Amino acid sequence: MSFSSLFLALSGLLGFTLAQGPDAYAPSTNVPCPDVTTNPLIRVFNASAQTLNPQEIVYFTTRKSSVIPGQWSNWLGDGAGIGYNLQTFANAFPNVSIAISGGGYRAAQYGAGVLSALDARNSTAQAVGTGGLLQVTSYLSGLSGGSWLTGSLYLNDFPSSRDLVLGNGNDLGGWLLDLFLIAPNGFNIFDSKNRNFFGNLATSAESKANRSLDVSITDIWSRAISYHFLNGTTRDNFYDEGLAHGAGQLWSHIPFSSSFLQQSIPFPIIQTVSRGPNTTVNSSATLQDIQYEVTPLEWGSWDPTLSAMMNLSFAGTQLVNGQPANSTACVTGFDQAGFVMGTSSSLFDSIGSNVAASASGLGTNVANLIQSFVQDFLTPIHMDSEDLSRWPNPFQNLSGRAFSETNSAYLSLDDGGSAGENVPLGPLFVRARSMDFVVAVDGSMDTNESWPDGVSLINSAQRQSTVTSQTHQPFPPIPASTDDFISTGVNRRPTLFGCDPTQNPPEWPLVLYLPNSPPTDGSDPVTNTNTFTLSYSLEHTVEFLNQAFNSTVNGFVPNTNNPDPNWGKCLQCAAIDRARFKTNPVTARSSFCQTCFTQYCYNPSNPPSQSELPNRSFNLVVPGGAMATTASTTLIVVVASAVALCNLWRVLPLVCLLCWR
Ligand SMILES: *[C@@H]1O[C@H](CO)[C@@H](O)[C@H](O)[C@H]1NC(C)=O
Ligand SMILES: *[C@@H]1O[C@H](CO)[C@@H](O)[C@H](O)[C@H]1NC(C)=O
Ligand SMILES: *[C@@H]1O[C@H](CO)[C@@H](O)[C@H](O)[C@H]1NC(C)=O
Ligand SMILES: *[C@@H]1O[C@H](CO)[C@@H](O)[C@H](O)[C@H]1NC(C)=O
Ligand SMILES: *[C@@H]1O[C@H](CO)[C@@H](O)[C@H](O)[C@H]1NC(C)=O
Ligand SMILES: *[C@@H]1O[C@H](CO)[C@@H](O)[C@H](O)[C@H]1NC(C)=O
Ligand SMILES: *[C@@H]1O[C@H](CO)[C@@H](O)[C@H](O)[C@H]1NC(C)=O
Ligand SMILES: *[C@@H]1O[C@H](CO)[C@@H](O)[C@H](O)[C@H]1NC(C)=O
Ligand SMILES: *[C@@H]1O[C@H](CO)[C@@H](O)[C@H](O)[C@H]1NC(C)=O
Ligand SMILES: *[C@@H]1O[C@H](CO)[C@@H](O)[C@H](O)[C@H]1NC(C)=O
Ligand SMILES: *[C@@H]1O[C@H](CO)[C@@H](O)[C@H](O)[C@H]1NC(C)=O
Ligand SMILES: *[C@@H]1O[C@H](CO)[C@@H](O)[C@H](O)[C@H]1NC(C)=O
Repeated sequence: MSFSSLFLALSGLLGFTLAQGPDAYAPSTNVPCPDVTTNPLIRVFNASAQTLNPQEIVYFTTRKSSVIPGQWSNWLGDGAGIGYNLQTFANAFPNVSIAISGGGYRAAQYGAGVLSALDARNSTAQAVGTGGLLQVTSYLSGLSGGSWLTGSLYLNDFPSSRDLVLGNGNDLGGWLLDLFLIAPNGFNIFDSKNRNFFGNLATSAESKANRSLDVSITDIWSRAISYHFLNGTTRDNFYDEGLAHGAGQLWSHIPFSSSFLQQSIPFPIIQTVSRGPNTTVNSSATLQDIQYEVTPLEWGSWDPTLSAMMNLSFAGTQLVNGQPANSTACVTGFDQAGFVMGTSSSLFDSIGSNVAASASGLGTNVANLIQSFVQDFLTPIHMDSEDLSRWPNPFQNLSGRAFSETNSAYLSLDDGGSAGENVPLGPLFVRARSMDFVVAVDGSMDTNESWPDGVSLINSAQRQSTVTSQTHQPFPPIPASTDDFISTGVNRRPTLFGCDPTQNPPEWPLVLYLPNSPPTDGSDPVTNTNTFTLSYSLEHTVEFLNQAFNSTVNGFVPNTNNPDPNWGKCLQCAAIDRARFKTNPVTARSSFCQTCFTQYCYNPSNPPSQSELPNRSFNLVVPGGAMATTASTTLIVVVASAVALCNLWRVLPLVCLLCWR
């Protein structure tokens, strides 16, 4: 069956074109399975012989041969501006990809601002020379808050970031970040508008539970996220309880959007991680736990012990050695776009393990409240893995694998960043994807002032040199510790890693690090907000986008507060650099580009210094004079809302599903 006939068949079975309400979230559970002897639902490969999904290959190669070459010349012209003749590289354009980190609304907005700056559709970015990278990109990966941006882009047919976030007064309602994620009409949870909102979320979760599928707190979370990031919710209809608010929009429908059909956009990938089968009260995911990805075609893992993918349209079906237990009881419609984003951002785990420690020092009453919340609510749901996302396991008993969860009926998937890799680089380093240039957009909150300190890259490098050395490209040299990231200043400005490979083909891709960092000109930052800040004034969002955009178009000039007028071209030098290795003989780096590389590359034997970045301001100043929300106050708000919500759920029919038995 072709993809489009499958679409029609599924739309008939699911009625997703008809379902208008929140129960469109319910998967269909009695769908005839394909004949798995001719159309397997599981795609197996092995670590030493990886294969991509055939439809991914078609997308990649068609885009690369018919769309991307024109985009390189739109961006670089004939190449003379950076000292090359672009013609020389015509058959060897590098494979480019972008990863957007986690970090809640902060990371989503940071990613959106950065993408504007790399987007040729933004005339300012295009004039500076940074705008154009997005158009030559083959893959875009997102995790947690970064998955919200990614999902929002793809489920809205990939508009410009600014229209996506702020709305366009027409078919895009914007992210509506001023409406608090957990209680949009303010802190009174018995308010009727809030109750309409909670009622909608509960109906969705109940409709899924009615199909005998496990439901967890992540389903509620997924539905709340959908209000902001999926198509269908506006300020005017926000409290209309009967509307779908994104329910029924499937990740596997992305291939039917018009930009995807024209191959004009990168191929999206979402990253998540399993917490593993041996849950204890204080355990969270580790670098050893299996890392999963979700594409519009399939979901599964490149980790050597699994090396298998499942057809995403049938996610939710349990399979044993690739066989359904009942050939008329396959599941479809499980891959709700909200649930894919919710899975990747299922951060209740980390709230649970961090809350108790943070509670001390907040005053006895608050500490008691928080501690009883942890004991009564988070600990039980943690032990039952109900704080995570529950995916029926289709990889049971696959032969010839040392897969640690081979006997689990459900996989418990966790926030993509919970094992310490907050920038979703894993999927982009998979050897079969052959990436040459990888952009790491890091909006993590690592330092005490909520800036990234490189720990995510250190963890990626470590995982790729141990757990996945066979399946993933190695990481280029980076500073050895977070202290080194900070003292060299590479966490505060664009930095290139792996500029000078020692072999051909190069042993690692070139990596551009774009950390969320203070404004170059020394003005007060607005982008280092807390992950648990779950509402933003419109004014703040606008300034946030502008600052993130600005840092991405500005580059830096050592020992000054000035933007670098050459940075746009330097970015072009970086993006095209690996093409030189494909020519015979290898083309020398142009002198213009060599100057750029001297300024922007991290050279381990002659590291740069933080002192080259003088007069930066690090402390958040919230625009409009609003009270700065500190980590502890937002944490209290989250915890108090969760306590309140949990109490509310107990009086709703959802009681037995979500709280405790
Ligand atoms: C298989 O699923 C169908 C529903 O599609 C159900 O009627 C039937 O009882 C199931 N068979 C078994 C053996 O469970
Ligand atoms: C992995 O693939 C190689 C090459 O195709 C093959 O020789 C080997 O038997 C495979 N290993 C497993 C465990 O399937
Ligand atoms: C890009 O990807 C293709 C397909 O995986 C691979 O053959 C090629 O070597 C990669 N790099 C370049 C520069 O073409
Ligand atoms: C470019 O993007 C920035 C950040 O989103 C935005 O402020 C600006 O208005 C955009 N410029 C144009 C010309 O679209
Ligand atoms: C949003 O959904 C509506 C109704 O289905 C559709 O008409 C519109 O094109 C969608 N907008 C985008 C940006 O995909
Ligand atoms: C779930 O099932 C119960 C019992 O059949 C039914 O009363 C309820 O309306 C269903 N809920 C949803 C949201 O479908
Ligand atoms: C989980 O625990 C079992 C039993 O102690 C052990 O055999 C297994 O290796 C553990 N799995 C992981 C992934 O730690
Ligand atoms: C879990 O962590 C808390 C806080 O750090 C500690 O008090 C408790 O003893 C730990 N529990 C277990 C079972 O390790
Ligand atoms: C999923 O399965 C259906 C039915 O066999 C098939 O038409 C479709 O192409 C499959 N999707 C992928 C990505 O393989
Ligand atoms: C898993 O496979 C083993 C060996 O093939 C078999 O003995 C066992 O019964 C299978 N388990 C299940 C749940 O099917
Ligand atoms: C954060 O840490 C830096 C360096 O350790 C220190 O100078 C600064 O005062 C700290 N800021 C806050 C807000 O604690
Ligand atoms: C953007 O950067 C330029 C150059 O540093 C500066 O003059 C301008 O004020 C910045 N704009 C914003 C919104 O930060």
